[in-house]
Amino acid sequence: MSEFEFPSDLLHRLREAHHVVVLTGAGISAESGIPTFREAQTGLWARYDPQELASPQALAHHPELVWQWYAWRRDLVRRAQPNPGHLALAALEKMVPRFTLITQNVDGLHQRAGSQEVVELHGNIMRTVCAANRHLVTEWASPPEGEAPRCPICGSVLRPDVVFFGEPLPPQALQTATAAVQTADVMLVVGTSGAVYPAAALPEIAKTHGAYVVEINPLPTPLSSLADVILRLPAGKALPALLAAAWPEHTPERL
Ligand code: APR
Repeated sequence: MSEFEFPSDLLHRLREAHHVVVLTGAGISAESGIPTFREAQTGLWARYDPQELASPQALAHHPELVWQWYAWRRDLVRRAQPNPGHLALAALEKMVPRFTLITQNVDGLHQRAGSQEVVELHGNIMRTVCAANRHLVTEWASPPEGEAPRCPICGSVLRPDVVFFGEPLPPQALQTATAAVQTADVMLVVGTSGAVYPAAALPEIAKTHGAYVVEINPLPTPLSSLADVILRLPAGKALPALLAAAWPEHTPERL
């Protein structure tokens, strides 16, 4: 028996849903050891604000600092493993007729957990492109200590293929995400502070189009008021338990 009690309405809606859409944020990867953006940074990077490092201005003025920060985050991502929350979402994809996973995360952990339909709204930290022309670069010469690497094609500074603050989202990803929430029967909003638009607008669009909205987050957010059900739990606990409660016979052993 599950240690959690879920509202029967939630379990019923999940089992009957034709299209389940999930929006994830940094909170789902917190249990994999990747710090969220809006919790206090610790250690080496404690005195820097991520919002200032992940910006076109920082890249223009302090490219070496931006690179050091992303090198540190890439290293964390490389060493991280998907947690039970990621694995439960990959399993959920197989339970329902249609499933779309929209993530603001750039860590690729959903794909590593086995999720197939993943819309990356904010890019992927492991890809490298150049700042001027978006050339996709897989190899580059290491620059002298303390300098940022440069594009072997056009010479402009390289950057991770992520959306910086103030930059537009990849149009195709945003379009796919917006279309998905309009046909969702159930939308799970997992581990996001709901502070960054346009991602934070997606649950409201889903709700307007009739979706049953579920927030999974240990803390309240601006999105809490539109949720039909709120699970104040860590994603790594809530999601496997929810799956087991909705489909007791089918949940894979490894969850
Ligand atoms: N399970 C679920 N939620 C959690 C957990 C957990 N184990 N741990 C923390 N959270 C919640 C926090 O309560 C918070 O609401 O995750 C949320 C993380 O919020 P942010 O750090 O603001 O991350 P996110 O919402 O993904 O940020 C959006 O902002 O910095 C940019 O581009 C970056 O994609 C990012 C975007």
